[in-house]
Amino acid sequence: MRPQGLFRGPAARIFRMSDRQDIVVSAPRPMPRRAALVEARSKLASASFHAEPHEPLLYAALRAGVAVPYECATGTCGTCKARRLAGVTVGDWGEAPGKAFLRADRDEVLLCQTRALSEASFEIPGSVNLASIDRVRPYFGRATVSRIDVLTPDMLELIIELDPPLDFDAGQFAVLRAPHITGYRGYSMVNHPGRAKQATFVVKRKPDGALTDWLFSRARPGDPIEWFGPLGRAIFTPQEQRTIVCIGGGSGIASIISILEIGCSSRHFEHFEAAVFFGIRTGADAFYLDRLERFAQAFPKTLTVTVALSHDEPRPDLSQRYPGLKFESGFPHEIAARDLAGRFAGRVAYLAGPPVLVDVGIRMLITQGRLPVRDIRYDRFS
Ligand SMILES: Cc1cc2nc3c(=O)[nH]c(=O)nc-3n(C[C@H](O)[C@H](O)[C@H](O)COP(=O)(O)OP(=O)(O)OC[C@H]3O[C@@H](n4cnc5c(N)ncnc54)[C@H](O)[C@@H]3O)c2cc1C
Ligand code: FES
Repeated sequence: MRPQGLFRGPAARIFRMSDRQDIVVSAPRPMPRRAALVEARSKLASASFHAEPHEPLLYAALRAGVAVPYECATGTCGTCKARRLAGVTVGDWGEAPGKAFLRADRDEVLLCQTRALSEASFEIPGSVNLASIDRVRPYFGRATVSRIDVLTPDMLELIIELDPPLDFDAGQFAVLRAPHITGYRGYSMVNHPGRAKQATFVVKRKPDGALTDWLFSRARPGDPIEWFGPLGRAIFTPQEQRTIVCIGGGSGIASIISILEIGCSSRHFEHFEAAVFFGIRTGADAFYLDRLERFAQAFPKTLTVTVALSHDEPRPDLSQRYPGLKFESGFPHEIAARDLAGRFAGRVAYLAGPPVLVDVGIRMLITQGRLPVRDIRYDRFS
């Protein structure tokens, strides 16, 4: 049912205010200080929620249990696109790559980069059931930097103290924001899932990247961070009782470590196999091998971990130091295709890391592994 009080504005007029911000205006005038009532409707359902003036509409919807489609939650993938039917909105990031998926003639916006300044109404494409099935609805929180440890020259481990605790499932991510840097960035939780007072992330340095540059060069213990989470549907729960395959590239190992933590502590791997393929460029880029060794040693018959070196030959000292791990040359999805040939059936697949790795991995799982799309769960670190 349509909520009362929503209005339909006349044809929108779009004023380009600056390179970074589009303000879309239709009557009535903005009321920026109050939470706005927002309606979302798809072909299948409609729902309404309140959005604070400072929060992206995607976050407001998810917080209220309205399951608007999303993937990156940070402006790059285009999954959260919606057609604005009425209301006054402001777009936060004029150059968001996800805008390439929008049709300007249909007044489409990215809900993760749009805020409502008045009551507003949006049409979500497709037959989307807007009822949330998330175990935990995402929420906002504050944090302070607790520790930053360098893992390799371009990889660090970030530990933050959370207030309130973050309740998440293995495989999920949160978006983080430093007060002096515009916009949120997604990072997957490494630690054991549950209600955590601390969260651990693995962060890869991006040349000229705003947040990673700050983390690698200037961030100090005690520095404040804001977060919103938990997010993402690439979730592993032992209750599903499934055999799994995990393919992660670089920092993409983060969520896989969290999956292995709960899989080991719940003794899931006593009964169900797990095959992990961890892609790095060279031996010098390796990190978390001690942890992976510990997991592999705990369940030697059912849990296999292969470290795939895309630009290097495996050094004998690595195999000697980590006898529970396999080291091979090649890309992780190619080694997975070969090692698991004829043994993909019934597995749930988890992929995380650079978009190109995730995309070739998904293609391999569908064409060679013959896995149904519903059993492929992924996070593209776009
Ligand atoms: C689901 C998901 C999970 C991820 N998990 C990890 C992980 O575990 N480890 C890891 O290293 N990386 C991860 N990433 C990538 C990470 O979010 C960052 O893109 C990366 O760290 C680079 O950030 P940066 O600030 O250094 O680079 P920048 O180039 O400055 O920014 C990168 C991203 O920040 C956002 N952004 C930039 N400018 C703006 C702006 N003006 N307004 C709003 N948003 C803006 C955009 O999303 C952009 O793609 C993940 C990405 C996604 C989508
Ligand atoms: S979810 Fe909004 S652009 Fe990816």
